[in-house]
Amino acid sequence: MAKVLVVYYSRSGNTEQMAKLIAEGVESGGAEVVVKRVQDTSAEDLVEYDGIISGSPTYYGSMAWEMKKLLDDSVKFHGELDGKVAGAFTSAANIGGGNETTILDMLNGWLIHGMIVQGDPKGDHYGRVSVNAPDARVEKQCRRMGERFAALVKKVAG
Ligand SMILES: Cc1cc2nc3c(=O)[nH]c(=O)nc-3n(C[C@H](O)[C@H](O)[C@H](O)COP(=O)(O)O)c2cc1C
Repeated sequence: MAKVLVVYYSRSGNTEQMAKLIAEGVESGGAEVVVKRVQDTSAEDLVEYDGIISGSPTYYGSMAWEMKKLLDDSVKFHGELDGKVAGAFTSAANIGGGNETTILDMLNGWLIHGMIVQGDPKGDHYGRVSVNAPDARVEKQCRRMGERFAALVKKVAG
């Protein structure tokens, strides 16, 4: 069964709630999912999965340093994530709070690893965005992201 990692950093719980909702979607899409705090995740862990979805609060328009550290540590495995699937999500305090730049910040790293990123023509285009804690719209979006992600990982991982 295709295996997906949802790895997140969250100080006050908003991004963590998104992580759990996305994981629910991955599961209902038929892939195995593990949800982990970034502090409990090592670069070694990353190679174990067919797909990785990362989440961070928006901090000054970019990811929290804890997530950047994981990405920087992952250089040890450069080339080994090539062809796997990636996605990203964030919570920020404001609508135009730098949410999409934060998502793109994380996706930059995954793309440089050679990973495949699927946009969404109907949902939040780059990845999921919540203003503070997820509301009903974001809940739906997160589950949808998880389901779409599972469908793609299953195709790619076979
Ligand atoms: C250091 C720091 C920087 C932040 N920078 C931004 C920002 O640039 N834009 C914004 O909208 N919110 C910003 N926020 C607010 C957080 O993104 C927001 O509270 C988020 O929901 C926290 O997620 P969490 O509950 O998962 O920790 C910042 C918060 C902190 C602590």
